[in-house]
Amino acid sequence: MKKILFVTSEAHPLIKTGGLADVSGSLPKALAELDQDVRLLIPNYQALKTQGDVRFLCSLRVDNKNVNILETRMPESGFIVWLIDFPGYYNYPGNPYVDEQGEPWPNNAERFALFCRVAVEIAMNRIHQDWRPDIVHCNDWQSGLVPALLSLEFHRPATVFTIHNMAYQGLFPAATAATLNLPGQLIHPLGLEFHGMLSFIKGGLVYADQITTVSPTYALEIQTPEYGYGLEGLLEHRQDALGGIINGVDLEHWNPASDPNLVQNFDATTLAQKAANKAALQSKVGLPVKADVPLLGLIGRLVEQKGIDLLIECLPELLPLTLQIVILGSGSKEFQAQLQELAAPYPDKIAITLGYNEALAHLIEAGIDAFLMPSRFEPCGLNQMYSQLYGSLPIVRKTGGLADTVVDTTPDSIANQTATGIVFNDATAGSLLEAIKRTLLLYTQQDVWQKIQQTGMQQDFSWKHSAQQYLALYEHMMPTA
Ligand code: ADP
Ligand code: GLC
Repeated sequence: MKKILFVTSEAHPLIKTGGLADVSGSLPKALAELDQDVRLLIPNYQALKTQGDVRFLCSLRVDNKNVNILETRMPESGFIVWLIDFPGYYNYPGNPYVDEQGEPWPNNAERFALFCRVAVEIAMNRIHQDWRPDIVHCNDWQSGLVPALLSLEFHRPATVFTIHNMAYQGLFPAATAATLNLPGQLIHPLGLEFHGMLSFIKGGLVYADQITTVSPTYALEIQTPEYGYGLEGLLEHRQDALGGIINGVDLEHWNPASDPNLVQNFDATTLAQKAANKAALQSKVGLPVKADVPLLGLIGRLVEQKGIDLLIECLPELLPLTLQIVILGSGSKEFQAQLQELAAPYPDKIAITLGYNEALAHLIEAGIDAFLMPSRFEPCGLNQMYSQLYGSLPIVRKTGGLADTVVDTTPDSIANQTATGIVFNDATAGSLLEAIKRTLLLYTQQDVWQKIQQTGMQQDFSWKHSAQQYLALYEHMMPTA
């Protein structure tokens, strides 16, 4: 049995802004089910939705600050969660990273540096809890300083750094290194420096014993200039320690047969019952309730990564067609305004819900016919897998995890019953438009469509395989002398 400290800045159902939370909620659970001793470390944000007991575990003094560690259990799954309690940094309302205007909290460097330092104290068992991890598993830039700081310790645990998104790197002015009292040995171009800035993510990329990312295709893509954001050379240099492990789906939360957010549960053998969810969704978002009109959906952060601009460019040509579109998302104010402006003349065709709404996200997955995911890049992506399990065909760009989890519909893949969605190549509006038109045509062949739905619903996206791959990785890593 391995002792694993899972270091993350969000975890569902405690707090979620995106897929990192889904992974941080479900991967530790899957590891615990494989009999591993996993503990999750997360800041005690004001918005954290803990349930049940939260007890004081210990205090420690780190970087001249008095910090408390609280202990609770993950709601539902029950593994141990340690909360870093330092109200001056984490007792802010709302989003963990940005304020109400979408601007990063001004002290993010300090907030996540403290998070990292506490992780190091736990990793080295300087909190005296008789629990010394074998593996410290870090996620994204917020935890990037952990492998860097641990590299300076003797008898340290092995470190894994998982990249969920190369676009977010935790870059701060060079002078921040001094403000944060970071050890000078780490501050140089082959360390945490990046073009005269301090880079948190480099802490993971340079110093972690193993680097993973969340799909095999993205692991290759980030070694190229298009996806590597200037770090492709470093990643290529570390390619022997870099691999891709595809994310799984938490089937307790995302299962159309038992999902409490649906008006009618269904599975691959009772597909006809999906229709009740379509009607409920249409009426909920104010679209005409029409069973035969193809309903496309999009859920996600309204940012360039997700190809929202491509969809915006397509809308004038799309909206006159016989279809409906439902969008749920939040993000760039500009994208929000553009979407609303284009949608205004077509209230019977397109419904936009701004904000974050977990229950509606589930109903959308169940009620739509096809899911739009025209991402410019997508490290893994979860909604294309949720869509398949909910009998909705994903329309995706061939990139990252989308390329690894969706099989395009072609005469061959129809014949051998492997088709699960519509895949297009180029990040252009024309390419997306063509894919949507292909989907609409396919929708008129309901017998083929239903076969594709069934193939998707039968995919095994459970965490089991991926958790086993992480475990295999942990097992070949040894704590250092
Ligand atoms: P990313 O992490 O890049 O945002 P993923 O596809 O990995 O993309 O995961 C996004 C997760 O967040 C999914 O579970 C999705 O349903 C959820 N999500 C995104 N935006 C919203 C929203 N506005 N309301 C509800 N859920 C959302
Ligand atoms: C990131 C990526 C997304 C991935 C998620 C979980 O937010 O953008 O593709 O699914 O992390 O790994």
